Amino acid sequence: MTQRDTESSAAAPLTLRARIEALRQQRHQLEQGGGPDRIARQHQAGKLTARERIHLLIDHDTFQELYLFARHRCTAFGMADKEMPGEGVITGCGSVDGRQVFVAAQDFTVAGGSVGEMHADKICQTMDLALKCGSPFITINDSGGARIQEGIDALSGYGRIFYRNVLLSGVVPQIAIIAGPCAGGAAYSPALMDFIIMVRGSEMFITGPEVLKQVTGEHVTGEELGGPEAQVRSGVAHFIAENDQEAIAICKRLLSFLPSNNLEDPPDRGDGELRIFSDPALDTIIPDDPREPYDVIPIIKRLVDDGDFMEVQRGFADNAVIGFARIDGNTVGIVANQPMVMAGVLDIDASDKIARFVRFCNAFNIPLITFVDVPGFLPGVAQERGGIIRHGAKMLFAYSAATTPKITVILRKAYGGAYLAMCGKDLGADRVAAWPSSEIAVMGPEGAVNIIYREQIKQAADPAAARAEFVRLYRAEFASPYVGASRNLIDSIIAPSETRRYLSLALASLRTKREFRPQKKHGLVPL
Ligand code: HXC
Repeated sequence: MTQRDTESSAAAPLTLRARIEALRQQRHQLEQGGGPDRIARQHQAGKLTARERIHLLIDHDTFQELYLFARHRCTAFGMADKEMPGEGVITGCGSVDGRQVFVAAQDFTVAGGSVGEMHADKICQTMDLALKCGSPFITINDSGGARIQEGIDALSGYGRIFYRNVLLSGVVPQIAIIAGPCAGGAAYSPALMDFIIMVRGSEMFITGPEVLKQVTGEHVTGEELGGPEAQVRSGVAHFIAENDQEAIAICKRLLSFLPSNNLEDPPDRGDGELRIFSDPALDTIIPDDPREPYDVIPIIKRLVDDGDFMEVQRGFADNAVIGFARIDGNTVGIVANQPMVMAGVLDIDASDKIARFVRFCNAFNIPLITFVDVPGFLPGVAQERGGIIRHGAKMLFAYSAATTPKITVILRKAYGGAYLAMCGKDLGADRVAAWPSSEIAVMGPEGAVNIIYREQIKQAADPAAARAEFVRLYRAEFASPYVGASRNLIDSIIAPSETRRYLSLALASLRTKREFRPQKKHGLVPL
């Protein structure tokens, strides 16, 4: 019995029992999506079906499906009698680890998960509910894009989804899992969301390889153009998953750090006690030679609860590290320079990566901890031509505009504009601590002495020895946290081993932080 049959038979004088039986039959049929052959094809491609994906994501027996009976009203191109169970997308709500989310999973077994008017309407209505209920919205994308037969109705559907992505932005977290094709303008919905998780084998691009071949003459595979590796490197995607199961595990872990909406605090996993500990290993963790690189991630892991740090956007601008962790059970957003990659310098991509993350944390009341070891902004013609001034300014803007608690810990170098950009006190850091290894100056000693002692070095009998002596003097004057502390730009100088204690107490003290700003429509972040 098709959906059409049921619609017409609803007028016949049936008993309620018969009607209930017809309902069950039809529901069962719609739940089969594109049917066994297409489901088998989906499995052969190494993919789960939309329903299986939802089953993995949502807590047992909590999924409430909505709009199962939606039906297209397209009559062009022989579509009038075409059955498209569920309109190629499954929508509804349910719990993830006991907290409500709304979800839309595109069903590739039905017309390639293509987006028509009613498909889009199901997604939009689900998003409207997510907004009203203050619950995260998750999409699982697996679609051939706009349903070609529906023309402008399909395009309009996408427009309505984009519009809602923007309405939801900063109100509820939005996470997109890309589990199949996501091409053309369709890619802009995930791009408007907060996090993109790409499953290996999936592809995202605005213009596919075939069109590129014709239009620009470039030869490239879909994977090279828009596979997960390519889109992490471009900064579009945030996580790569080996398969659907892993993508859903990443999504759940991410949700565990996030509040359901911007009026709530992130979930508190603590027991009300501060877990303060001293960690002597930190006292020897960074090299004595300020030019020697080290990995900042083990430092972060030693400082957060259970060493549990969820790095975001690994593979994009790895000279900066961002991610989520907990301290005393409460979520924090971590930002750090990575001295192991390009000495932790800030470039265009690192600035974009940090600025966006800071804005996300601020929107969702997640306190920020910034670990600083930065030699400056990256010099170079390519960086200047690429607009490092504009991109670096995004970081300054994001930190200055953020009213969430902001704690900065200077580990080693903090030079020049990058010292400020990494949430210096003057950009509104509530608390700033420095390790004794800190060097805070307008620029590094080598560059500085070449400018301020140029003549003396030139005239010295032994210029190299003179330069070395000036470097020593400069270091002695500036390369310590004490000048900053004497100006109250640093509130505490702490041994590295005392850092967890500092962070626990500082976060506890900032829990009641309130900061008010002038009313305005919005600031003009330098995009
Ligand atoms: C209608 C579509 C469709 C679409 C796929 N199908 N995409 N139907 N509109 N956009 C249908 C197919 O006709 C087929 O139906 C079924 O879905 C499965 O597709 P296959 O081609 O058999 O699957 P596969 O070989 O895996 O290839 C998947 C695909 C390919 C790469 C996605 O289908 C494809 O290239 N589709 C068109 C992609 C596209 O150009 N979309 C428009 C992009 S522009 P049957 O019944 O035959 O099995 C766009 C603009 C959005 O999206 C703008 C927003 C602002």
